[in-house]
Amino acid sequence: MSSRSANGINVELGECINNTGFHEVDKTEGVVDGDAENTISAVSGSPNGEGDAYTQIKPYAGMPKEVLLLYSQQARYRLPREILFWLILVCTLALVALTITVIALSPACLSWWQSSPVYQIYPRSFKDSDGDGVGDLKGITEQLEHIEFLNIKAIWISPFYKSPMKDFGYDVEDFRDIDPLFGTMQDFDALLAAMHDKGLKLIMDFIPNHTSDKHQWFNLSRSGHEHYKDYYIWADCNSTHPPNNWVSVFGNTSWTYVEDRKQCYYHQFLKEQPDLNFRNPHVRREMTEIVRFWLEKGVDGFRMDAVKHILEAKHLRNEPQVNPLQSPETIDTEFELHHDYTASQLGLHDILRDWRAEMEVYSREPGRYRVMITESYDYEEIEKTMMYYGTPNVKESDIPFNFYLLDLPRNLTGAGAQGLVSLWLANMPEGKWPNWVVGNHDKPRISSSAGLDYIRVINMLLLTLPGTPTTYYGEEIGMENINVTLDQIQDPFGQFNPVSNSSRDPQRSPMQWSAGPNAGFSDANNTWLPLHPNYTTVNVEAQQKDSGSVLAQYRALSNLREAELPLHRGWMCYVRSNTDVFAFLREMDGLDKAFLVVLNFGEDSVLDLSDVEELPERMTVRMSTKQENDGRQVEKSSIATARGEGLLMEYYAHVRFNPGHASRCFVSEKACYLGALDILYKC
Ligand code: GLC
Ligand code: MG
Repeated sequence: MSSRSANGINVELGECINNTGFHEVDKTEGVVDGDAENTISAVSGSPNGEGDAYTQIKPYAGMPKEVLLLYSQQARYRLPREILFWLILVCTLALVALTITVIALSPACLSWWQSSPVYQIYPRSFKDSDGDGVGDLKGITEQLEHIEFLNIKAIWISPFYKSPMKDFGYDVEDFRDIDPLFGTMQDFDALLAAMHDKGLKLIMDFIPNHTSDKHQWFNLSRSGHEHYKDYYIWADCNSTHPPNNWVSVFGNTSWTYVEDRKQCYYHQFLKEQPDLNFRNPHVRREMTEIVRFWLEKGVDGFRMDAVKHILEAKHLRNEPQVNPLQSPETIDTEFELHHDYTASQLGLHDILRDWRAEMEVYSREPGRYRVMITESYDYEEIEKTMMYYGTPNVKESDIPFNFYLLDLPRNLTGAGAQGLVSLWLANMPEGKWPNWVVGNHDKPRISSSAGLDYIRVINMLLLTLPGTPTTYYGEEIGMENINVTLDQIQDPFGQFNPVSNSSRDPQRSPMQWSAGPNAGFSDANNTWLPLHPNYTTVNVEAQQKDSGSVLAQYRALSNLREAELPLHRGWMCYVRSNTDVFAFLREMDGLDKAFLVVLNFGEDSVLDLSDVEELPERMTVRMSTKQENDGRQVEKSSIATARGEGLLMEYYAHVRFNPGHASRCFVSEKACYLGALDILYKC
């Protein structure tokens, strides 16, 4: 430290400060300077009367506190300081207000499960990597490029847990292990890592309702182990008389007698799939831990199987017969009873909401939302399906599977399609997100149920409706059901009544990758189910080379769905429907570009929309399922579609349709587009 004395004042200088600004000021300089005068008066008021000394000094870095304080009170320092202070305060408040306004005005961003279709893989049939004729996890890892090619970000894989395979994996022996047929836990980890590296999300099948009869819990329960005896649903009975008239989804009584306990256990599905007892808190805890186990591993969501059957009535009373006059002994299928006591019981949603809450804990990291999909088909009681959406205050399922479009092949008309679409949208709670399923491992393939002529238009419907589409593997190339002879039947449901066509094998045949041996699915001599003989022409490789193929169109639609704002989050308005066509439009407030979709589910037809004032006279075909029509100009007074043709037309709207037709329009969350700033806002 060095010090310097000026009129007896010691000025301490910081050692490491180069005091370039320091020099003595002569008296004249101090007097001439108006501010310096202020300084003098301020200083002379100082308690020790040593103010004059300071006028000798100009401010410099490192000057002592006392001197600094005196300078800082001078108007020329104080004023700018105060101005700056207020300016910063006002700016900060303005920024906070702006942030709050922007947040309040922004519509919610779409999450990954909303912006991408979901692709369902049936792992036995997707790709066999080890030559045993059955698909496996490594096979899926090998084929991820196909999913990327389709511009799909979310894959749901049907079960691959350790299983005796009585119901091909829906009978789980160990919820924390992988079946050797599909690979190992390392294979699973590698698949998940590969998917995450590519930005893909993995949705697991979770089967809470039942386990396999080979599950350790069931062995212990059957033998009456103190802790496990109530893990399943047991009732007194004898070997010939079940406790009541309840029947299994797969046919016959849903009770099986066990000699060890001299009791029957309940199974909603096969006798090898005993139902868990969710009234036992230990069972609930165990199942929640399993949910956590896979979340911890990093899976991105669950498709929860057969959830409506999770609880049964405790009183075990007979279910009412659909036909009260039917002789009770002849009842052996689910369609002959009203399921008042074996489905949708009180308490079911609490169980699901607990799992949802668990999933929320793991959804907090940005971009790691864990999706819940629930499987429950409630037929004409659609309000029961809607309950899985939860309430405005309690979250539950994000995607309660919408199976109503599965009825499209039986209602194959334009009006039929509109009816099924509006059935969902009209019943869905406000603000929820719709979803659409046109095929899965339990239902015939579209090309077979609706007919080959309609696969393209059904894919177009699926990808142009508002909400999340689910595509069953193979539908993107238009695969067809295989013929399975009686001696080839693998599915237990098919074995129950072999002539009834209830077998699900036909829609589970191996994926058709190429025209090579076994369609490129496997190197084995025999595949677990036969291949469809059309694989020589209907396969991924061939369709990739053909710009007019079902595959090329699926991909183009998937890309459009992502790229075009009106398609992925705009309004959907019903424009017209009749025996042949279903016409709707997709538009966004604030955006001139809009789309008119005309889908033909009947025969060749010409649609006249000249009375729809909001449509321009002419529109451009952005995409047709008949490639030769792409780019064509269409007059709104005569929109021709061939049998099974889908047209996606683009136009520029000067007057939007939705404001004048509120009752014919739907939007999940209203948003407007501000072109000048290229942003969306709530409106
Ligand atoms: C679901 C599955 C079906 C399975 C059943 C029993 O409905 O989709 O394939 O057989 O549950 O787990
Ligand atoms: Mg159950």
